[in-house]
Amino acid sequence: MPQFGDYQNEIYLNALFGVVPKYPMAFAGWEQAAQAALPPSVWSYVAGGAGDELTQRANVRAFERWGLIPRMLVGAAERDLSVELFGQRLASPLFLSPVGVIGLCAQDGHGDLATARASARTGVPMVASTLSMDPLEDVAGELGATPGLFQLYTPTDRELAASLVHRAEAAGFRGIVVTLDTWVTGWRPRDLSTGNFPQLRGACLANYTSDPVFRAALAKPPEQDPGAVVALFSRIFGNPLTWDDLPWLRSLTTLPLVLKGICHPDDVRRARDAGVDGVYCSNHGGRQANGGLPALEALPGVVAAADGLPVLFDSGVRSGADVVKALALGATAVGVGRPYAYGLALGGADGIVHVLRSLLAEADLLMAVNGYPGLADLPAGLRRVPDTGA
Ligand SMILES: Cc1cc2nc3c(=O)[nH]c(=O)nc-3n(C[C@H](O)[C@H](O)[C@H](O)COP(=O)(O)O)c2cc1C
Repeated sequence: MPQFGDYQNEIYLNALFGVVPKYPMAFAGWEQAAQAALPPSVWSYVAGGAGDELTQRANVRAFERWGLIPRMLVGAAERDLSVELFGQRLASPLFLSPVGVIGLCAQDGHGDLATARASARTGVPMVASTLSMDPLEDVAGELGATPGLFQLYTPTDRELAASLVHRAEAAGFRGIVVTLDTWVTGWRPRDLSTGNFPQLRGACLANYTSDPVFRAALAKPPEQDPGAVVALFSRIFGNPLTWDDLPWLRSLTTLPLVLKGICHPDDVRRARDAGVDGVYCSNHGGRQANGGLPALEALPGVVAAADGLPVLFDSGVRSGADVVKALALGATAVGVGRPYAYGLALGGADGIVHVLRSLLAEADLLMAVNGYPGLADLPAGLRRVPDTGA
């Protein structure tokens, strides 16, 4: 049976014939090469976060506080990293987190389509952002047999929200992820210092300009008056939702509904009571509120309160070891954010495939070495590492 770790053999064997990997093998290299490849404004937008970026750094450091105990003589010659999510068996526990400017991270400005192609090639589901360079129907068209989810930024216009959800359903997306932490943009000094906000320059608005409800609210077709598009988008983008809005959101679709940005157990319980199908523990990669709490610290409490409801997780995942630790802490599936944006900047869909295969190979080989044949073996191996102050 093929294993994710086989990627390692492929690389070593190719090197015997003089072919060394085209892309760097770990996050630091992806990040460095992406900085060189991306226009400065896109780099700043992707790499930056809220405030002094404490939360962003804390997300990454949080993984260092957990260790995995190796078990020997287990003979974990085959590992099973597959997970069940919303009634589907997925070969791997990874998914591609929604990244609103992913379109701009590709050299040709069609990064949403490249991401969907990478998803089709790897079987790693894509959560497609509302903010995209290509309409959601085109993105769905590239997903092949891999299930995709649509991420909704809920506009203030309920008719437009319903239209986006129904278009996602019709396009074949298998679930709706409602992001709750971004109805207003967090304070981002890196971008503020250059006045850099891609959507206000008309980028990544294809789901709006292709929408009949949005178009009907414009006096002229979007192509003829880009300024009016941006003005209308700015007016309707952010909806400060409350729990009272949840029954309405639930009523929009029979697809699995997932709430993104949930970090408090009480919010998990309320979401469960309101009939959602999953919660997504994330602090938006430290881009929204610089409150300092790493998302990984919130994960165990969210998992406990979820009481069997699927828990998606992201924020700070940089390696295969991080993926394994998040799973050991109870995540049902683990989201990759910035690493795949950097992979895309380096090599389009090939770059994303390389990033995903690298993360999965590392996770798989870690499980082989540590004697964990399956994901159920992980929690018993997890230990808190004493803080050495280093
Ligand atoms: C440039 C950028 C754009 C993002 N856009 C969105 C988005 O449109 N919708 C959303 O729900 N989350 C968005 N996120 C948050 C990601 O889904 C995810 O939570 C975050 O990237 C995880 O942090 P990490 O990449 O540092 O691991 C974005 C993140 C980045 C880096």
